Amino acid sequence: MIIDQLQKEFEKIYHKQAERIFFCPGRVNLIGEHIDYNGGQVMPCAISMGTTVLIAKNNDHVFRFRAVDFPETSDIELKDSYTKTGTEWFNYPLGVIHEFLKAGIKLEGLDFLFSGNLPIGSGLSSSASIEVLTAFALNDIFSGGMNNVELALLGKRVENQFMGLNSGIMDQFAVAMGKEGNAILLNCDTLDYEYLPFEIGDYVLAIINTNKPRKLVESKYNERFAECMTAKEKLQKKLNINHLCEVSIDDFIKNKELINDPVVENRALHVISENERVIKAREALTSGDIKTFGELMYASHQSLQDLYEVSGEELDAIVEFCKTYKECIGARMTGAGFGGCAIALVKKHSFDDFKEKVCRHYEDKIGYQPGVFSSVIAEGVRTIV
Ligand code: GLA
Repeated sequence: MIIDQLQKEFEKIYHKQAERIFFCPGRVNLIGEHIDYNGGQVMPCAISMGTTVLIAKNNDHVFRFRAVDFPETSDIELKDSYTKTGTEWFNYPLGVIHEFLKAGIKLEGLDFLFSGNLPIGSGLSSSASIEVLTAFALNDIFSGGMNNVELALLGKRVENQFMGLNSGIMDQFAVAMGKEGNAILLNCDTLDYEYLPFEIGDYVLAIINTNKPRKLVESKYNERFAECMTAKEKLQKKLNINHLCEVSIDDFIKNKELINDPVVENRALHVISENERVIKAREALTSGDIKTFGELMYASHQSLQDLYEVSGEELDAIVEFCKTYKECIGARMTGAGFGGCAIALVKKHSFDDFKEKVCRHYEDKIGYQPGVFSSVIAEGVRTIV
């Protein structure tokens, strides 16, 4: 919905005008998958789709949560702290409020109206988007004094402690710190980062949504997290490391017997080789070698499919098609996997043809249509009004 319509919707619900409006994008990750929680380097970027919130203060000491896209509503009294209740969407902003209260920031009652155009559960970080959006808004309205990196870290605490997902910092960082036209190379251990102009010549970044209803993503994600921690602990018996990504491929090969579990060994091999791919991808991008960048994307997907086992027949069907399409030079799943979205680098002038053919291929194999769109790299969280 456009802003004017949202303002009318706000007035209809609350019988007053919204005082402030903020927007936070979603993200895609170009390369560096499932390594943020292993202290690795990742390369996400913010996209133009995201979440908008309209807000007005109230004198009732109540947080009223409404969303254009969800029927569930909630009115929650201002208290000292909160815990997650159920699985509804408003737990994300509630978790953010909880973190602000924990930080000793004084809040007042607020009326919220959220609206988003990120397909939910599609791996484009709709949850990081609503977390960072709420954090940015509260920080602004109540003068919290936090910078965007601190807001990203706060969002991660909500995800880890309030929502119970052991995710890394990548998503919150990407949507808080995104810069138009640039990918972010983020070191997830030190939080050092660098903007890399995403100059891909006559190619476009395509996003292909599997439209697969995602199930059990959280439990499988936490399982991968635990497997990585096991691999790290076993390697620590000999290697002086804090994170799995500190291990070189050579050291891994020399010491992999310590792991003594073929599945965990595969997980570790993915993590370590993916981290090295990101470093190569940075080189490729900065030297304008888009072809190599694309090949690294394919290699990343293969590793996520075979070693990390977070892909699935839907994502694989898309990437397999991309490999046969001459004007596509790279593709991979993006985000946590198990469904969600793939990304691809496709020649601009072939995009419509690509779209038609990938849809046909996918429908033949999977039985329903994917969503396909081209995306621009956009700014991170921001104030609209
Ligand atoms: C999800 C998590 C991120 C990251 C990716 C996989 O998006 O929120 O922290 O681990 O999966 O790279």
